[in-house]
Amino acid sequence: MEIRTAAVLGAGTMGSGIAQVCALAGCVTRLYDVTLARAEAGCALIAKSLQKGVEKGKVAPADRETAIARIRPCTDLAEAVEGADLVVEAAPEDLDLKRKLFRSISAPAPPHAILATNTSSLPVARIAEAATRPERVLGMHFFNPVPVMKLLELVAGEKTSPATLDAARAFGERIGKEVIVVKDAPGFASSRLGICLGMEAIRMVEQGIASAADIDKAMVFGYGHPMGPLRLTDLVGLDVRLAIGEHLARALQAPHFEPPALLRTMVAEGRLGKKSGRGFYEWKE
Ligand code: 3HC
Repeated sequence: MEIRTAAVLGAGTMGSGIAQVCALAGCVTRLYDVTLARAEAGCALIAKSLQKGVEKGKVAPADRETAIARIRPCTDLAEAVEGADLVVEAAPEDLDLKRKLFRSISAPAPPHAILATNTSSLPVARIAEAATRPERVLGMHFFNPVPVMKLLELVAGEKTSPATLDAARAFGERIGKEVIVVKDAPGFASSRLGICLGMEAIRMVEQGIASAADIDKAMVFGYGHPMGPLRLTDLVGLDVRLAIGEHLARALQAPHFEPPALLRTMVAEGRLGKKSGRGFYEWKE
């Protein structure tokens, strides 16, 4: 089955990145969010990222224009998924919210559609239960910034059919990603490792072991990571990482995933990282 039409639910950082790669791959793409302002803000992020892609010589100027023309902002959920071959949900990490979305799209989405969740850590099987065709549901976990990061982590839920997994793998390869397949275990492969490092780095700042910049340098220059765990936390969003840490600490019953008090305080103060202008670092446009 060739994927020609895609719907992305949630026009935040991840949703807009996913819509961008779908449109660049030639799909007619709907970008849904609860308000038109949010959906349009997602389209603006895409235009900016495509422009950067052009400047970096990765996107042809004509492809930028065609990709933009293929994306339509949308606030009607049923309309967004109607006729879609692929639906990717990229809503906040809230199980009830995701289940509600999957319940709502079950009838209007075509029976053959792949219904994917971009969850970073929540159980795919619990999300799939809410859909009428759980065999069509799987995790398609993208990484920020989506157009640049090569990994696509596919998560097979208890009822995901082999045909769904194969179609998702083929689409991942079509959009130029390295595809891995992981069991539906808490945090899958990527978040389980990434959150462990991120939480420990925040604990080290809290304990005054070194500055955020020096802790990051330890990983960048000592271990060859492209950026340190604290700058990465700023990039992903402190609120996002807090939610994942809380979930993994509960699900895996392991104290090293437990979010440190410093992270909770920063989130409560609105220091969410790049998107709010301030996290472990100051971010200017
Ligand atoms: N479109 C297409 N290509 C682009 C682009 C765009 N908009 N913007 C940049 N690129 C390309 C560049 O041309 C460059 O390609 P090259 O390596 O072939 O020259 C490459 O992407 C890197 O771009 P830059 O030179 O602008 O940027 P940096 O070298 O400073 O790298 C970074 C930026 C890619 C963000 C890098 O620092 C990095 O890899 N950081 C780690 C990011 C990471 O770990 N993300 C995962 C987060 S966890 C997550 O997302 C999970 C979720 O569930 C929360």
